[in-house]
Amino acid sequence: MTITRIIRGASVVRDGSLIPMDILVSGEQIAGLSLPGLVSPPGAEITDADGLWALPGGVDVHVHLREPGYTHKEDIESATRAAAAGGYTTVFGMPNVKPPTMTASDLRDTLALYDGKSLVDYNHNPAAKQTTELAGMAEMGIAAYKIYMVADTGRNYPHPASIGVHDHGHLLEAMEAVAATGLALMVHPHDQRIEEVVEQRFWAEGDRSPEAYARTLMTGDGLLWDTATSLLLRMAEATGCRLHIVHTTTSRQVEMIRAARRRGVKVTCEVNHWTLFLATWELVQELGPYVLSYWVPAHHQQAVWDALADGSIDILASDHAPHTREEKDVGYEDMWAAHTGSPGIQYQLPLLVDAHRRGRISLERLVDAASTAPARLFGLPRKGRIEPGADADLVLIDPDREWTITNDSVLSKIDWTPYHGRTLTGAVERTIVRGVDVYAGGEVVGEPGHGRQAVPDAPMRG
Ligand code: DOR
Ligand code: ZN
Repeated sequence: MTITRIIRGASVVRDGSLIPMDILVSGEQIAGLSLPGLVSPPGAEITDADGLWALPGGVDVHVHLREPGYTHKEDIESATRAAAAGGYTTVFGMPNVKPPTMTASDLRDTLALYDGKSLVDYNHNPAAKQTTELAGMAEMGIAAYKIYMVADTGRNYPHPASIGVHDHGHLLEAMEAVAATGLALMVHPHDQRIEEVVEQRFWAEGDRSPEAYARTLMTGDGLLWDTATSLLLRMAEATGCRLHIVHTTTSRQVEMIRAARRRGVKVTCEVNHWTLFLATWELVQELGPYVLSYWVPAHHQQAVWDALADGSIDILASDHAPHTREEKDVGYEDMWAAHTGSPGIQYQLPLLVDAHRRGRISLERLVDAASTAPARLFGLPRKGRIEPGADADLVLIDPDREWTITNDSVLSKIDWTPYHGRTLTGAVERTIVRGVDVYAGGEVVGEPGHGRQAVPDAPMRG
């Protein structure tokens, strides 16, 4: 096997420790690892990574790339440029685009867009609403489907009613149909009727503020999240559907998921950057519509951090959700008219590295949550690992570099980040997708079209 590139002297995580190694790359794949300096094949490109960490490139299974249909917010090229700068080498898009991804034909068209535009490897999660379409979509190399139990009131984005599933009978049919494919079903847990009852109490008082919205969604200390999660777990148990819960937010969700796993229910879950780093009451007040407007009280945030650290929460996913300033600013008057969601793919890995440096999470769990576990759970054995035979998807991190996130560093189409002004220790130096740099020297250097569909060849089926 010809060695084409060597990442020299990078510290690789092995059994919880950082060991300096040379990563030997042959074309698109990792050929092997060796002690630093032992191998010097003629003609191989040498990348000096002394003092840097080499982690497997991030795998983010929950990204709103907004294309087709909402390209004034973001598109596949801009989102994957941000991903490259953030250390992500594989992203999965979401179906709340226009047209919403509901049929095999929609999916075919959307995958064709990624094919020409994505800088990093990709897949796309279609909606599991039209149950007769699901088997056909499974043939197209997807890894998961998505269901939103939420439908917006007062606006029609980001949760258009057309793709929401609120009826429990419909949910049952969808879970049965997904179970038959063996793929995972990602679900945003929610209860629309409870939300409506609670929000109308605020509206009756004339209160449509970001704080009222945040309190509505956290009513009863997490009632919306917890009731839906309990229902979903019981349905997964009955149908055998592989359930992946997005937006894990409350302590009771974590407890329920742990208990369901002990009973053998096939459930995994994710936490999003905004739960870990943003959604405090102080920031809801300070940033208003710009902080997404889900509020995660401190006792829930602590429970979620603990669950991420001990592996009860399997993975980190960004739920990268860019919206323009205009779409946010209306929220100061009427939060129900603002588009909710918060961009994050460019900064969540450095935020997590910084959290590790502050002792909140081990490096081993960080790598597992950001990369190895999502690859494993969504059936991508060549992703998320620095091992011979794996794809040469790598992120080089300078663990000691201090830097400050600013709005003008944002590569998304929007020109803001809720993290503006935050100083972190730990920065992405280089991102490599299948042997090729997509981010280096502070610049995105990847080409649109380099990305390839990350087709699962061994989805976890049991
Ligand atoms: O607030 C949200 N915004 N929640 C989601 O689940 C989707 C996201 C978006 O697409 O903007
Ligand atoms: Zn989302």
